[in-house]
Amino acid sequence: MRDQPKSDDLLDWYDRHARVMPWRTSPQDRAAGVMPDPYRVWLSEIMLQQTTVAAVRDYFNRFTARWPTVQDLAAAADEDVMAEWAGLGYYARARNLLKCARVVADEMQGQFPADYDDLLTLPGVGPYTAGAVSSIAFDRVATVVDGNVERVMARLFDVHTPLPAAKPELTELAAKMTPAKRPGDYAQAVMDLGATICTPRNPACGICPWRAPCMARKMGTAAELPKKTPRKPKPIRHGVVYIARRIDGAYLLERRPDSGLLGGMLGWPGSEWHEDAAPAHTAPIRAEWKTINAEARHTFTHFHLRLTVKTALVPMDRTITSGFFVETEDFSPTDLPTAMRKAFDLIAKA
Ligand code: ADE
Repeated sequence: MRDQPKSDDLLDWYDRHARVMPWRTSPQDRAAGVMPDPYRVWLSEIMLQQTTVAAVRDYFNRFTARWPTVQDLAAAADEDVMAEWAGLGYYARARNLLKCARVVADEMQGQFPADYDDLLTLPGVGPYTAGAVSSIAFDRVATVVDGNVERVMARLFDVHTPLPAAKPELTELAAKMTPAKRPGDYAQAVMDLGATICTPRNPACGICPWRAPCMARKMGTAAELPKKTPRKPKPIRHGVVYIARRIDGAYLLERRPDSGLLGGMLGWPGSEWHEDAAPAHTAPIRAEWKTINAEARHTFTHFHLRLTVKTALVPMDRTITSGFFVETEDFSPTDLPTAMRKAFDLIAKA
């Protein structure tokens, strides 16, 4: 009979090749009884959703330097957390992060629960995060399925059903592979395998600890798995933003409503975003607006955005119809979500 894949083979590989990350405890330290801080595991897992390890590292280090414990984060001002999160995207994650920190600090004595079902009750914690925190921070057996794990399972068992329809089948395979021993290391080992060896393109099958039992390797199908149902092309939405600068250097900004895209973030006042053309709107302040000769372009999950950028210099005493002025010394473009920062970059270049 063909070899069955063994979790021990992957764990042996992880003992030698685990990536070093600021929220991790090495497999050697874990074996000596050192467990990672659940707050740091939770924070990293929320940040890593739909974002790469490379993009998250600096954000994670800044967050934990500023808010070293869940109580510190719970006590933070909303706008400070949103500003630190700016650029990571998916801003509902940041709002839920803060809600979750406050529940853990206020109702759970600052202790994250270890149990999967208890974790699931927390704001912003879904099956993936509950599984990841339960296993990585507490070594509980839990099935952890992210994109890396789906790819590894699809190849290991040569699953040709396209995603997303294949999710239940891949989750079941992932659950069967999860060992009772060292589930936290195992969860991270599959992620590392997916990120460094079982990569989307050009997988390094020759050095894979699961090369012998891998069915896709045997069939020569590894590089084409997992199959994916083609997505519809994204529509293009158009909008206008107004970047007004007062003669003392202050910028006119607004805080976006909590719900919806970029919810709770700082931004430039402007129109709604519609397909075909920006809808009717009014400028936030009377001024001689100049239109910048280029659009700010940004892609969200479900659409491409093209922003027309208008700019003006305004006197000290002019009435504003929306937003507030932020003094030069309090303004940092890194506090803006990326779409809004791109609009700012255009005027800085103009
Ligand atoms: N992606 C999401 N969580 C991760 C983790 N703990 N280690 C590596 N990659 C990850």
